[in-house]
Amino acid sequence: MKKIPVVMDCDPGSDDALAILMVHAAENIDLRAITTVAGNLNREITAQNALNIVEYFNIGVPVAKGSYPIMKKFEALDVSIMGEGGLGNAVLPKAKGEYSPYHSVELLHKEIQKSPGEIVILATGPLTNVALLLSVYLEDRELIKEIVIMGGAVYEGNHTPRTEFNIYTDAEAAKIVFQSGIPIKMIGTDVTYRTPVTKSDLECLLSNDKKVSKFIGDLMFYPGDDKRPFPEEGIFIWDGLAAAALICPECMEYKHVYVDVETRGELTYGETVADMNHYLKQVPNTHIAMECKKYMFLSLLQKTIEAIE
Ligand code: RIB
Ligand code: CA
Repeated sequence: MKKIPVVMDCDPGSDDALAILMVHAAENIDLRAITTVAGNLNREITAQNALNIVEYFNIGVPVAKGSYPIMKKFEALDVSIMGEGGLGNAVLPKAKGEYSPYHSVELLHKEIQKSPGEIVILATGPLTNVALLLSVYLEDRELIKEIVIMGGAVYEGNHTPRTEFNIYTDAEAAKIVFQSGIPIKMIGTDVTYRTPVTKSDLECLLSNDKKVSKFIGDLMFYPGDDKRPFPEEGIFIWDGLAAAALICPECMEYKHVYVDVETRGELTYGETVADMNHYLKQVPNTHIAMECKKYMFLSLLQKTIEAIE
């Protein structure tokens, strides 16, 4: 089977960490590089987390440091959500290896040049690096097959009433990406809110003594204390669903519509405005995931755990 060449641009981050493992383990994906960006945490910590994960699980791909938002002042995710280190209760040994000598934008460009027309970008953080890539290396716009994004919200936000964190963190960057003309899959809050993962789902998957299961448990059960117990209704594994859409597109149901990003609204900055009823008469530019077959998602998680030592 011909593998899909992928560069993952991310801000690990607990759910990014799980998504990295899913992509690494997928038999149909050729993970070429990990480029990091400021988002959940500052760019130093997201990069260090990615390097630590790659070394700890012998993933063997280059890791690059990335950028801060283009226009908007950087605001990391509230530290209470993923913990100081950004990986919940998981603490990994500090990697001995070096970062790629290239900036995230340059590494993205180099990998695109190696697989023109085939490369797919999985973006699970703010879209700063991808927007800079498309602005600096204009020719790459024709060479990227698809961008699979964890981001956006059609109806309900997770950071402000109608915005999702990745888009809100750098809406100007997101606007550049959505208007690039490159095919986009948007895995946003809508499908994620409809695909909660419960404690028993995770306990079934992690009931073994594998190193990877302990790591995923440490990521996902955080904090799980009296103050913030594991939610009865389950948790939302944002980036995991984006990885699932990349690995197994048929696990999602999509709506193909026109999406643009609000960058000037006082209360609406960062909204992904999805023209679900085609009022704007614009050519659809985005496939928005609206439903996910949860059993297929859980099966991908199972395969990830089986594939990784
Ligand atoms: O809104 C969820 C997204 O923001 C996820 O990618 C999470 O990792 C954070 O980056
Ligand atoms: Ca993320």
